[in-house]
Amino acid sequence: MDDSMNNSTSQALTERVLQAYSRIENPRLKSIVSSLIKHLHACAQEMRVNDEEWEFTWDFMARMAEKTGPERNEFLLLADVLGVSQLIEMLNHEEPGQPVGFALVGPFFRANAPFRERGASIASEDTPGTRARISGRVFDFRDKTPIEGAILDIWQAATNGLYENQDEQQPDYNLRGRFRTDKNGTFELIALMPTAYPVPTDGPVGELLRVAKRPPNRPAHIHFIVSAPGYETLVTQIFVKGDPIIEDDAVFTASANMVGNFREEGDHFWLSYDFPLKRGVSTMPRAPIPI
Ligand code: BEZ
Ligand code: FE
Repeated sequence: MDDSMNNSTSQALTERVLQAYSRIENPRLKSIVSSLIKHLHACAQEMRVNDEEWEFTWDFMARMAEKTGPERNEFLLLADVLGVSQLIEMLNHEEPGQPVGFALVGPFFRANAPFRERGASIASEDTPGTRARISGRVFDFRDKTPIEGAILDIWQAATNGLYENQDEQQPDYNLRGRFRTDKNGTFELIALMPTAYPVPTDGPVGELLRVAKRPPNRPAHIHFIVSAPGYETLVTQIFVKGDPIIEDDAVFTASANMVGNFREEGDHFWLSYDFPLKRGVSTMPRAPIPI
């Protein structure tokens, strides 16, 4: 069979498939399903995917499902390392000139972290690592007025690169906490100087990174979700100024508008960092880890 004939038959098939899904009532869902069909068919067509490659594809997905459970979502991790999660953050939230960038949530956010007093530490006393005092203001991006009662939800990995839920040695909710701003919109807390760590590589996503010769590391960071009624929730991360691997984040999140200047202050570091919020609808991202 010549190629043009093959092409026209396969195009007819794509049309038939689109037609078969044309009765979806929800218009948004219908558009997304059609777009997905078009792009998947175009990819199979363009690449002339062979039997062996197709078998590898569905087996790869089955193996991703095997790695996915309440503590870990391999599908989310795949979206992260392919840059899809960060792309969706940018499409929905980024505006030119925005002083603090939006970051992906990542698979290790856990809801209901304990509320802690102003100035308290998110690290238990026996948690190893250099402390970092972080203080700053949450304010209205447009008129610069302080936002009282904004909530900062923070989490970070220990110096062994593990989040508390991955590590039996850490107490429950260690290195996680929520803080409220005062009437001047200010907050203060103690965290650890952040540590770089690799994303999990013991599953199919690790295979992909190895075959692509991509380092699995995330540059050192602290996660922040800053929210207040009447404001768009800011999901971000703070990286360390001068960290040489910022340019090579395995999940394409780190960027210049998320860098903090940690300064030495006696036996610890100090970071002053402000969070401007845009007016909008206050939402909370869904936590990939159960409570
Ligand atoms: C994280 O920063 O917690 C993270 C983000 C994406 C993939 C793995 C970890
Ligand atoms: Fe992280």
